[in-house]
Amino acid sequence: MGSLCVASALFIGKLQGNQLKCCFGLTRPFDHSLLDNMKKLFTQLFAILTLVSVAQAASAADVVGNAKAAENKVAMCIGCHAIAGYKATYPEVFQVPMIGGQSAKYIESALQAYRKGDRKHPTMRGIAGSMSDQDIADLAAYYSMQK
Ligand code: HEC
Repeated sequence: MGSLCVASALFIGKLQGNQLKCCFGLTRPFDHSLLDNMKKLFTQLFAILTLVSVAQAASAADVVGNAKAAENKVAMCIGCHAIAGYKATYPEVFQVPMIGGQSAKYIESALQAYRKGDRKHPTMRGIAGSMSDQDIADLAAYYSMQK
């Protein structure tokens, strides 16, 4: 109990000390070097933030497809796309297009169109809907290299 009192007394003392310092700071004549330091700090902080956001924007703009990374993403495509002449029967009978060997750009824009809803096929929309830009780029790279 005694030590608790001492601890809280110390705590309050500290608080008051800080408040005193604050008040003291306000009543002193304005310290310009302090302001300059603050300005420098903010300029540096701003520069760092700008750099970080530029770096992020750059990496979002050029997602590079990695065919190797697609190898564990194609499992769910193979069921339909790997079988020549295969027809998916839901909700109607669809001819499943060959995607192997098509250009990466074409595959990428097709998947993005399904994801956005510009292409309407429900199965492909469902599949593309959960893909990231990276997934799409990887799959496009993978299938464009297939014969
Ligand atoms: C359930 C069967 C099924 C699965 C699974 C499936 N697809 Fe499809 N996919 C289709 C059908 C059917 C179409 C044609 C749809 C249309 O007419 O728009 C299609 C179309 C496409 C197209 C457009 C082809 C073109 O020539 O325009 C691409 C690209 C594609 N799929 C990629 C994929 C990828 C990548 C996966 C795996 C992540 C996948 N699909 C999984 C059935 C499937």
